[in-house]
Amino acid sequence: MAFPLNRLRRLRENAGIRSLVRETLVSPQDFIYPLFVVRGRRVRREIASMPGNFHLSMDELVREAEASYAQGIPAVLLFGLPGKKDAEGSESFKRRGIVQQAVRALKKELPDLYVITDVCLCEYTDHGHCGVIKDGRVDNDLTLRLLARQALSHAEAGVDMVAPSDMMDGRVAALRSALDDGGYTRTALMSYAAKYSSAFYGPFREAADSAPAFGDRRTYQMDPANAREALREVALDVEEGADVVMVKPALAYLDLVRRVRERFDVPVAAYNVSGEFSMVKAAERLGWVDGKRAMMEVLTSIKRAGADIIITYHAREAAECLKEGGL
Ligand code: PBG
Repeated sequence: MAFPLNRLRRLRENAGIRSLVRETLVSPQDFIYPLFVVRGRRVRREIASMPGNFHLSMDELVREAEASYAQGIPAVLLFGLPGKKDAEGSESFKRRGIVQQAVRALKKELPDLYVITDVCLCEYTDHGHCGVIKDGRVDNDLTLRLLARQALSHAEAGVDMVAPSDMMDGRVAALRSALDDGGYTRTALMSYAAKYSSAFYGPFREAADSAPAFGDRRTYQMDPANAREALREVALDVEEGADVVMVKPALAYLDLVRRVRERFDVPVAAYNVSGEFSMVKAAERLGWVDGKRAMMEVLTSIKRAGADIIITYHAREAAECLKEGGL
């Protein structure tokens, strides 16, 4: 018999019972914290479009990673802003490139911190596309060679995991075989498997100085209208050797997080991207939402949808909030 025998409000009566029946727990251990490394020393410059996130020089990067690790966040994801850009993004695979140096510094100072690098060309090319241009188009197979060199240079620097975000076809296989041929069989690979062409990357493009100078990314990133295609992308990346697959962005694509979780037995990451982060911050500043509660609700929803791993700019603030007992 339904009502009045069943009264679901009994399980919401107080904090004790609510905590006992809570189905989804978010923890700092779920987080990957993205960081932006720049050249110079003692640089800690707030990114205007992403309040509470900074451009960090190597020394400051180590301090920030140390602090996040101390809060229980196991991993960082590195993005680099190089000194110069060119057509092929050649700074991206230099032995002494900005990210390669950052990886060396982090692994030396914080050997237990899990270090992940974004592998892409858009921060390094003068045209801002994620691949090389040939005859006015982003050339898939030429790009694969450069991405493989970049991943290999990160592995040589000691990175734990590489994360290709370019959305070229065949890049997981290309990176995996380059790593294996180089003897880096232990370097893991997380693919940005279902990465959509999204307006929610807006604030990041200011942070990484990576807006395309012409056209857009729709010939390589996915159409937001497609879900079955995302499952094909994920299937291919798993076949090509991805250890972890990612859905990106997270919030407008929670259906995909759920479907990927149900269909594939690999760990699933979701990227709570810059626009999702900055919208919460902006609404908080305007006094329109309680920022902390909105943040925890967002992160909980991503976990509830099925993500094992959440890549989020909220990582440190959320870890702090969880320490105080959550919301
Ligand atoms: C690089 C890359 C982007 C993001 C992660 N890696 C930008 C893009 O594809 O345009 C977006 C991250 C964010 O918005 O937080 N290809």
